[in-house]
Amino acid sequence: PAAPRINPSILAADFANMQADLARIATADYVHVDVMDNHFVPNLTFGPQMVERVQATSPIPLDVHLMIADPDRWAPGYAELGAASVTFHLEAATEPVALARRLRAIGARAGVAVKPATPVEGLYDILDDFDQILVMTVEPGFGGQSFMPETMPKLRRLADEARRRGSAVWLQVDGGIAASTIEQAAEAGADTFVAGSAVFGAADPEAAIAGLRATAAQ
Ligand code: DX5
Ligand code: ZN
Repeated sequence: PAAPRINPSILAADFANMQADLARIATADYVHVDVMDNHFVPNLTFGPQMVERVQATSPIPLDVHLMIADPDRWAPGYAELGAASVTFHLEAATEPVALARRLRAIGARAGVAVKPATPVEGLYDILDDFDQILVMTVEPGFGGQSFMPETMPKLRRLADEARRRGSAVWLQVDGGIAASTIEQAAEAGADTFVAGSAVFGAADPEAAIAGLRATAAQ
């Protein structure tokens, strides 16, 4: 299989020193950008202007995770800014397949995310419409929460189904991913790992990225 992808979340970076913190994760596969709107989740982070500046500053492609209401209206704008991938929440979208097609038409990878309690079975027949599926391993909204192992059976069923169908979809996990949890997520079938605190909370973020990548590859 391909090398595991490690996408550090800048939610755990220093918002007043973003350029310096981006320079500390030069070996990341993607920069994960958590967009929150105080509505879909009880927290507020970045909007399009910030994403545009991060996009201009970072040599690493952006993996934008939209935790916002009405992604049908707002998600295409993030693709137009040049984000490599745009992931919206299934719970928030009105027409997820149509939205994914619009994102792809703009040139972004299309992603769909599910909260811990949201079933994945409804995605089985539309896997081909997405480039990546994000199984949340915490309730979205905040960094630094504990990994929820009860999400692993769902991830495993999704990975089995994707394999059975010959799908090339990437399976991403986000929330509480660290040296102690990444192995079980990889074993359940994830290939793409978002990590906030485990990367930016480390003395050497690039060593943390390398360590996570090596553990996931085992
Ligand atoms: C949570 C965000 C995550 C968050 C992960 O809602 O989607 O991307 O930054 O942070 P850690 O890795 O600290 O759990
Ligand atoms: Zn995220």
